[in-house]
Amino acid sequence: MRKPPLNSNQPVLHLDDVSLGYGDFTVLRNISLTVLPGQVVAMMGGSGSGKTTLLRAATGQLMARHGTVTLFGQNLSHTDQSGLQSLRQRMGVLFQQGALFTDLNVFENVAFPLREHLKLSTKQLGQRVLEKLAAVGLRAAAHLKVAEISGGMARRVALARAVVLEPELVLYDEPFAGLDPISLGVTARLIRSLSDRLGCASVVITHDIAESFAIADEVYLVGQGELKAQGTPATLGASPDPYVQQFLRGDADGPVAFDYPVTPAFEAWLARTGIQ
Ligand SMILES: Nc1ncnc2c1ncn2[C@@H]1O[C@H](COP(=O)(O)OP(=O)(O)OP(=O)(O)O)[C@@H](O)[C@H]1O
Ligand SMILES: [Mg+2]
Repeated sequence: MRKPPLNSNQPVLHLDDVSLGYGDFTVLRNISLTVLPGQVVAMMGGSGSGKTTLLRAATGQLMARHGTVTLFGQNLSHTDQSGLQSLRQRMGVLFQQGALFTDLNVFENVAFPLREHLKLSTKQLGQRVLEKLAAVGLRAAAHLKVAEISGGMARRVALARAVVLEPELVLYDEPFAGLDPISLGVTARLIRSLSDRLGCASVVITHDIAESFAIADEVYLVGQGELKAQGTPATLGASPDPYVQQFLRGDADGPVAFDYPVTPAFEAWLARTGIQ
């Protein structure tokens, strides 16, 4: 078992008035967010609202344009590459396009972070890998090649790999995508139990309202370039805000925009094509 954090109230991840973007495009502004040890935080918002962008800020892949991102107590804009590397060893990430190594089998994919970071005996390593594969229901798929498993199975292998080091923080980008209802429930309970059992903090980006509300301590909703709402699942469920209610009910009409916004770059591209 890992030692408990020195100060269990110190946030694992903290964003303070953060703005993020690419080139001249600001995706999100004024975002403040706190993730405490052992918490499961759900991050919701429409497609293109900036959820994956937030995750990139948390891993230090994308620097904040304004405000501060603090990971394990360290301000990322004052952290060099080697500092970032050691912070990243304390976190697991399930990427939205969670690519597995296609030349390694299922077992070796999950074993990879262990071989990189820990010196375990063959037996200890094997047991840890099989335990994590068992947690996602794929112990008996350990020997299969990546080409021999389905899309949903690949997602679960990627999940086992993200948590195999039992990190202090795991960021999951759409962990439920492509899973059948049973795997989805098992995965959600796995995320919750990692937090309860190991004190690991989890940030879960998802569109699955029922499942994330069932496991989250705190829910954040982003849209229209900002934080639209934040609270416990119960508070958000009871919110009178039409934006929140439309999102939760999935209504087509209301303040939540479905269409990607028209930009000058799109207009210029369209004019060049001569289609219109
Ligand atoms: N590397 C990039 N360069 C330029 N723009 C980008 C880049 N990545 C994302 N964007 C833009 O940033 C916005 C937010 O994208 P992001 O991937 O964070 O959305 P998301 O909320 O994760 O969406 P989804 O639910 O579809 O995964 C989008 O408008 C997207 O076009
Ligand atoms: Mg995304």
